[in-house]
Amino acid sequence: MSIIDSQLLPRTATVNDAGVLSIGGVAVAAMAEQFGTPLYVYDEEHLRNRCREAVAAFGKDRVIYATKAFLCGAMARLAHEEGLLLDVATGGELFAALHAGVLGERCVLHGNNKSVEELRAAITARVQHIVVDSFDELDRIEKLHSEGLPAPRVQLRITPGVHVDTHDYVATGQDDSKFGFNLNNGDAMRAIQRAQASAAVELVGIHCHIGSNVLSVANFADACAVMVNLFLSVDLPELTLGGGLGVAYTNGETAPSMSEWADVLKRATSAIPAEKKVFVEPGRSIVATAGLTVYEVGTVKSIDGIRTYISVDGGMSDNPRPMMYGSAYEAFDPARTSADRTEHVRIVGKHCESGDIVINDALVAPNVQPGDLLVTPVTGAYGHSMASNYNKVPRPAVVFVANGAAREVVRRETLEDLVRFDI
Ligand SMILES: Cc1ncc(COP(=O)(O)O)c(C=O)c1O
Repeated sequence: MSIIDSQLLPRTATVNDAGVLSIGGVAVAAMAEQFGTPLYVYDEEHLRNRCREAVAAFGKDRVIYATKAFLCGAMARLAHEEGLLLDVATGGELFAALHAGVLGERCVLHGNNKSVEELRAAITARVQHIVVDSFDELDRIEKLHSEGLPAPRVQLRITPGVHVDTHDYVATGQDDSKFGFNLNNGDAMRAIQRAQASAAVELVGIHCHIGSNVLSVANFADACAVMVNLFLSVDLPELTLGGGLGVAYTNGETAPSMSEWADVLKRATSAIPAEKKVFVEPGRSIVATAGLTVYEVGTVKSIDGIRTYISVDGGMSDNPRPMMYGSAYEAFDPARTSADRTEHVRIVGKHCESGDIVINDALVAPNVQPGDLLVTPVTGAYGHSMASNYNKVPRPAVVFVANGAAREVVRRETLEDLVRFDI
């Protein structure tokens, strides 16, 4: 017996006596009927609640939402309305945030290889600060300044030289990293001195981000201790401690809560004088559990003595995480949410790769049939934002649901969209 842990579902999820799942007061099957599948569904109340939890834990104007986790106009506005700043990691994310109506002064620019154009756009939009990642970037900002652009507020991204327990592809705090100025080889101090002496930047702080989907608060405490040490040795007003708080993806998995994360960071920064500003940059922990993906089953193939394959109408194009990181998920039929899931199957996508696996070893209720729906919960982060058109599959629509009403906030791509850029 394995029913879905309620912690994997958005906060307004309800299951009626017949086992039918609703989010925000709307049956998931009704949304699939109205908007088609695959479909990304976000619980708006859950999103707002996570933003509020973060602001309550870290303070007003101290939470910067990492838009790479999930960005569209509606999400940018929601985070902005809830008082979060926006971390944009490219000119494209900056454009999307500005296009959504968020002012540049509420955005922070990131990136380990920002182009001159991206820097120019950020300075022109008067972003809150730019997190400078390299000496080459400082050269570019100095050149832009010599051409007449104002000196931006900047923080310097420091690589503190700590290891975290997460997938190698999303560990960013170790010495062997493409990101930031290494503390251990002296680059960090050289960058601080250079920025302090430069008229082209206003150095306001230092920054670190040690990795993503970090489940051990001890990892944050280690990095924080290193950063606080450095911060107290330089007289700067701002410190950013990055994002990275992990979430539970599967039954039985546990993740620190927002307030547990905040407690660890607060303890680790307790020596910092109150007038200094300490920021965090959560992405995944704001949006992951708010979102789920609804697929329709297309084929069921049993190979005696080997396994059963269930193919759904999406796959690696709407959720590349299983393929990239071997990430695990749960799956269930939203028409029988409370059913015992007793069958081991492999859920796969519709793409031309054997590696196009949604769930390698999934437990589902018996007798799944073509036409049934399958939901994978906790797909709100790094799903839509990493989606592709592989095999010319149109990307799914995104729906926000609240108070009994579902609204499409990103429309499903059409076949015409797939050839729009052909010349
Ligand atoms: C600089 C920076 N800040 C914040 C984040 C957000 O991380 P997460 O989504 O794990 O909270 C990332 C993600 O890679 C990042 O690179």
